Amino acid sequence: MDSLKMTPWEVSGKLDDAAYRHLIEKFGVDIISKELMERLGKVAGGELHPFLATGLFFAHRDLNLILDDYDAGRPFYLYTGRGPSGKMHIGHLLPFIFTKWLQDVFGVHLLVQFTDDEKYLIKSDRSKKEVETVANENVLDVLSLGFDPKKTHIIKDYDNAKTLYYYATDVAKHTTISTIKAVFGVVDSDNIGKVFFPSMQIVPAFILSAITGKNIRCLIPYAIDQDPYFRVSRDVLPKLGYYKPSAIISKFLPSLQGQNGKMSSSIKGSAIFLDDDEDSVKRKMMKYAFSGGKDTVAEQRKYGANPDVDFAFNAYAMFEDDPAKIRQVYDDYKSGRMLSGEMKELSARKINERLAEMRRRRKVVEKDVSKYTFDPSKFKDL
Ligand code: TYM
Repeated sequence: MDSLKMTPWEVSGKLDDAAYRHLIEKFGVDIISKELMERLGKVAGGELHPFLATGLFFAHRDLNLILDDYDAGRPFYLYTGRGPSGKMHIGHLLPFIFTKWLQDVFGVHLLVQFTDDEKYLIKSDRSKKEVETVANENVLDVLSLGFDPKKTHIIKDYDNAKTLYYYATDVAKHTTISTIKAVFGVVDSDNIGKVFFPSMQIVPAFILSAITGKNIRCLIPYAIDQDPYFRVSRDVLPKLGYYKPSAIISKFLPSLQGQNGKMSSSIKGSAIFLDDDEDSVKRKMMKYAFSGGKDTVAEQRKYGANPDVDFAFNAYAMFEDDPAKIRQVYDDYKSGRMLSGEMKELSARKINERLAEMRRRRKVVEKDVSKYTFDPSKFKDL
């Protein structure tokens, strides 16, 4: 596993089952047990989200404590985010689609942080103006998934700097440089922004407790590259008198070209972007998508495909809401009733359908996006 690198700022190496097993050990997260799945399923009225059923969201930290609070009628909130480095691809949507499901199921407040400062400070040639412009576009992309307008609050780091910085100094005061070096791989030649920035991403994990003066648990959905921030936060927050945040953690949507890497904006032919038109989605799918199918039609009919490693199947499963349909397609493809070309066609169609729906909603949200701005005074009665 020496070739595997996983920090929020660098992911490289093969992302197969062995890699995820290794990360579970190394990061010290727990697998989502059958019992926890059943508890979640019960709250959701019986049907688990396909991302849980298929093991895409596979790990957690203290999810049981969130469910205990929910059962006891105590409030909790959700927090997730996006680093506005450029156009969003469909991989970035994965935690947001799941977060929307959690918000619908539990009916709770959600904070979404856009770390424009992170994208100015780290691995970037963009100016501050540019990262702020990208952040505004990404806000619309995320909101076009249809989050509850009354309970969804957008934090942009530069815009909300005063509130965030005030609490970030509490985190910074209790975090050593050696911790940041060990957890994030920061080296002496890096700029000092990299050392401080993690404090900014940790703040929303306790900000509602800080504002209200009550201790309120926070559940953070993310893909596993973001875990370092929250590992650090779990050491620091108890020192400030707050709960450790809970987390629900996903694997990556792999690159179009297969499991050797995550879907990434910086690798050509690895990503489908939210603003790709119908033809581009179809062309990328046909040209690049890694197939778990066999080389010839005859072999595919006889032996079937391996849907688990097939990009088209995984992307289809991400955008199809109906678990019964996903199961049917899985069986048809695995048994050889369905061919790779048909799988790719179906997947491209599903992606295009969902992207079109998002574009429609984006226009509506754009008109009153200011309604979503994070305002500490909205939480006084929480
Ligand atoms: P960012 O913009 O790199 O990614 C946004 C979210 O998407 C996840 N992600 C992926 N999930 C599945 N497949 C992929 N190929 C893929 N690529 C990225 C990330 O894990 C993340 O959940 N620093 C953060 C922004 C942030 C944040 C947060 C994220 C601020 N606060 C709280 C999660 C939770 C960032 O740059 O994310």
